[in-house]
Amino acid sequence: MFDRVGDDALTAPSSDLATVRRKFLDVNGEHPMTAADEAHVREHFQPATPEQLTEIAAGRLPLPGYFLADGTPMVADIADCLEAAGSIDRLHDWFLEFWPDDPTTAEREWLDFLSGQYVCLRKLNPLSIRNKTRLVEQARVAVDARRADPRDESAQGSLAEAVDGGLAIMGLDQILMPTIAYDRLRFGGPSSRDVWVDAVRAEFNNPQPPALPIHTERLTLRRTIPEDAVANARAWADPDFARYLLLPQQNPAEVAFANLQHSKPPDGPHRMIALTMEHEGTNVGNIVLFFEGTGTSGMEIGWTLHPRAAGQGLATEAARMGLRLAFEHYGVRRVVANLDALNQRSAAMCERLGMRREVHRLADFWSKGRWTDSYEYAILRTEWEAQQG
Ligand SMILES: CC(C)(COP(=O)(O)OP(=O)(O)OC[C@H]1O[C@@H](n2cnc3c(N)ncnc32)[C@H](O)[C@@H]1OP(=O)(O)O)[C@@H](O)C(=O)NCCC(=O)NCCS
Repeated sequence: MFDRVGDDALTAPSSDLATVRRKFLDVNGEHPMTAADEAHVREHFQPATPEQLTEIAAGRLPLPGYFLADGTPMVADIADCLEAAGSIDRLHDWFLEFWPDDPTTAEREWLDFLSGQYVCLRKLNPLSIRNKTRLVEQARVAVDARRADPRDESAQGSLAEAVDGGLAIMGLDQILMPTIAYDRLRFGGPSSRDVWVDAVRAEFNNPQPPALPIHTERLTLRRTIPEDAVANARAWADPDFARYLLLPQQNPAEVAFANLQHSKPPDGPHRMIALTMEHEGTNVGNIVLFFEGTGTSGMEIGWTLHPRAAGQGLATEAARMGLRLAFEHYGVRRVVANLDALNQRSAAMCERLGMRREVHRLADFWSKGRWTDSYEYAILRTEWEAQQG
């Protein structure tokens, strides 16, 4: 293993440094680095040691990813590769073992690895290289499928996994580093992250708000306005209203402040939308929809009804429209509701809406000074569509 000794590269045999510099320019050409580029490189790469420069000059270790303006060659940390390979002498053969059935690809990847140009990877190693290649291909297929049919559920899942990752899977977001201006110059265009994370999210994770207001049989669902704070604060003052809400008790100032924030309409892409329910000209509650995770295939729904409006089916009527918005307007494939298991009225509402209780968590939720059970209800788009008849 090499010692890391800071700027010792500058004291390396000048012939090694000159050789490495020449090879670097052959591969990358000459392009300016901004101050922000240099800061990024200093954060994620390390100065090459004299011993490393000797091996790099001999073509046994990857070229530097960058040269700083002061001439320091900056390399990726591949200590874990060397540890796994056992020695530099074994590095090439160890690397090739990751493509046991495809020696041509293995050798091509080795050359790319040696070129120092795999600067897009947060961790430079053959596993990351394989994952990146696989996930970009997965994303490419899913993007084509979603362009053909935005509601293709397999494509939604596959694209979300490729870009955002899953429970035990890293996505391109975790694998690929942010891009710097210097890289766009030397590669002559956008980076993998530009194309497969940022552009994909801009195209597919950019929900737009629905046209408002929305009318149901008895309700108008509209944007919240600051004046709604008066009725909302009155509801919060009732202990029965707040008892099972997932939020802590709110005082009038907190209600007014939250209300003001909800009254700022989402004009463009957004992660949540809150709609006030108006009945006969009066604010009687609200429904809220949140996107789950970082994708746009699942939403969570929530609701509150002011006590004086209870018992008429108004909350159910509003929530039915909430589900319609989730499935028809936002095009998600699954909607969930989470509640305190003691909240029987809310659980009854889920049942009225045709949601299925999928989870009963025992004493998992600390709320208002006590441990309580919680329920998760869910409904799939296919189930919701079947309900519509
Ligand atoms: C949860 C909450 C929204 C439920 O309110 P609700 O009044 O029970 O729900 P609805 O408005 O849908 O009304 C349903 C009732 O109206 C009756 N009803 C009358 N006309 C109806 C109609 N046209 N359609 C449906 N139900 C009707 C139903 O039979 C039901 O009565 P029941 O409770 O005697 O069975 C309300 O209790 C609440 O806001 N609580 C405080 C905040 C909260 O806990 N939010 C949920 C957090 S998870």
